Amino acid sequence: MPADATPPAPVRVLSGIQPTGRFHWGNYFGAIRQYIDLQPGEDRPQAEAYYFIADLHALTTVREPARLRSLVHDAAVDLVSLGLDPARATLFVQSDVPEVTELTWLLMTVAPMGLLERCHAYKDKKSRGLPADAGLFTYPVLMSADILAYDATVVPVGEDQVQHIEVCRDLAGTFNHLYGTVFTLPAPRLVAGGARVPGTDGQKMSKSYDNTLDVFEPAAAQKKKIMRITTDSRPMEEPKNPDDDHLFALYSLVAAADETRRMADLYRRGGFGYGEVKKALAEAAAQFFGEARARRAALEADPARIEEILADGARRARAKAGEVLARARRACGLERRAGGGRP
Ligand code: ADP
Ligand code: TRP
Repeated sequence: MPADATPPAPVRVLSGIQPTGRFHWGNYFGAIRQYIDLQPGEDRPQAEAYYFIADLHALTTVREPARLRSLVHDAAVDLVSLGLDPARATLFVQSDVPEVTELTWLLMTVAPMGLLERCHAYKDKKSRGLPADAGLFTYPVLMSADILAYDATVVPVGEDQVQHIEVCRDLAGTFNHLYGTVFTLPAPRLVAGGARVPGTDGQKMSKSYDNTLDVFEPAAAQKKKIMRITTDSRPMEEPKNPDDDHLFALYSLVAAADETRRMADLYRRGGFGYGEVKKALAEAAAQFFGEARARRAALEADPARIEEILADGARRARAKAGEVLARARRACGLERRAGGGRP
């Protein structure tokens, strides 16, 4: 770099994941895998990464405390098993950083009602005639605080969350305009190709459609689901187009590139049965997730380890969020009084 060049702005990646159920292949191939690829490493020396489990957001749908606790624990174990490396990224639980909820209030005071009324989570619920609570209505403000609290610059998300990042940029811009530059404006990063992973019935894989293949379900149960994947009834000998077949699409996610090519040739030639493809899919899946499964078993056998990871993540996240909150409070005229019950 020439001596007078300005150093590149630090890349700080952040994303949140709701703990609303066990992760399925759609969550992994559509989101989690990209988050893991964006961790700092030899090829990304200057990136910092923050990933958190969005338990406060989950409270708008999960209302059983024991279930929420176990979903949060499982999400943490799953993410680490899948390759989220606590030495390279900060992994924490959203509610362990109370600074974020305070920041939410500051942002709420600059959030126009009209803007929130247009946000789809609230709007969809209302249009279906369902009662919505203020938590759902202000969900994008909490999400904005999640992002701004860590000066995140890049937020990898699925298509459905892009609107919320726009809200975040809007609120940060208004706050900065009123009080001086406090917040860093983030940019969304759509996960590569917007991959839409099909479910066992060919529709989009989603836990609401009961058509998922879960990343960590027992191999025997998964094989059963795979054997029941819907297929058409064309005769075996007929050549088939692999590109419009969801069974093939699932296979290509977990099989090696040369195996996928071989399978595509077989489809085009014809003369095979879907049963064979299903068996090959079950084997490829077991192989693909084998290492993650072994890591998961080791983590499950050592429950203190995951708590240690999350406690360390919370400490690092709070240190950063504390700085940003102090900046925001100072800018808008809030003082910290000695003896105010805070360090
Ligand atoms: P679900 O539809 O099962 O409730 P979520 O909405 O909790 O899944 O998904 C969390 C994230 O996982 C989404 O933002 C999206 O990025 C990704 N995702 C979920 N399902 C799929 C899919 N079938 N294909 C690609 N990505 C998906
Ligand atoms: N709302 C996101 C989802 O449902 C999760 C989330 C919460 C998030 N806070 C965030 C994602 C901040 C990115 C950045 O998927």
